[in-house]
Amino acid sequence: MGSKSINPHNNLELKTEQEKFWSQEFGDEYTHRNQGKQLFAANLALFSKILALTKPFKSVIEFGANRGLNLTAIKQLFPDLEISAIEINPLAVEKLREIGGIEIYHESILDFNPQRVWDFVLIKGVLIHINPNYLTEVYDRLYASSDRYICLVEYYNPTPVEVTYRGHQGKLFKRDFAGEMLDRFNNLQLVDYGFVYHRDRQFPQDDLTWFLLEKKSE
Ligand SMILES: C[S@@+](CC[C@H](N)C(=O)[O-])C[C@H]1O[C@@H](n2cnc3c(N)ncnc32)[C@H](O)[C@@H]1O
Repeated sequence: MGSKSINPHNNLELKTEQEKFWSQEFGDEYTHRNQGKQLFAANLALFSKILALTKPFKSVIEFGANRGLNLTAIKQLFPDLEISAIEINPLAVEKLREIGGIEIYHESILDFNPQRVWDFVLIKGVLIHINPNYLTEVYDRLYASSDRYICLVEYYNPTPVEVTYRGHQGKLFKRDFAGEMLDRFNNLQLVDYGFVYHRDRQFPQDDLTWFLLEKKSE
């Protein structure tokens, strides 16, 4: 089934222009563009490093999973994991369904009300695209969804800035997302962090900074 046969609005009621942007054509084009063995290999390298820092866990949810490039890499490393995904774009949801074995929440993160917790909560390249007025709501949902770990992989900047994204305004914001979560939740602790350079000779990523946070008992 091609993307044209999918109702781009999918009856989701969206509050922000950023959600509309991702649920429609731009999100479809992103989903078509971002695939391939090199991205998969880079994700394997990244997650084998991050997940080596954790204690064994059983369940993972990704906020804004797109077609599942991160989740397939994580599943390759831990085949028995229970996997869930939240995704707003219908074409990406279709690709997630094709993978199989993933519990899919086809909705906006801004509408997601977690009814359970997951051991490892991942968000990668998504906080940068959330309307900054709603960021604290997303922080609260990440926190509420996590039984132990929260992993943020985003573009870092010490202070909030907006940058043009593929010619679009109001669609890409960089800041210290992890620092803001650490300030907001007393029992969150920083386990480790790192940077993946776009000129890495073996496993490049798009200048991403990752942070592994853990909930500790107070
Ligand atoms: C830049 S992509 C990153 C995809 C994936 N996390 C990765 O690293 O390959 C951003 C993804 O987040 C999704 N997204 C953006 N805003 C969202 C929202 N409010 N709720 C759910 N998904 C959203 C987009 O549809 C897209 O799939």
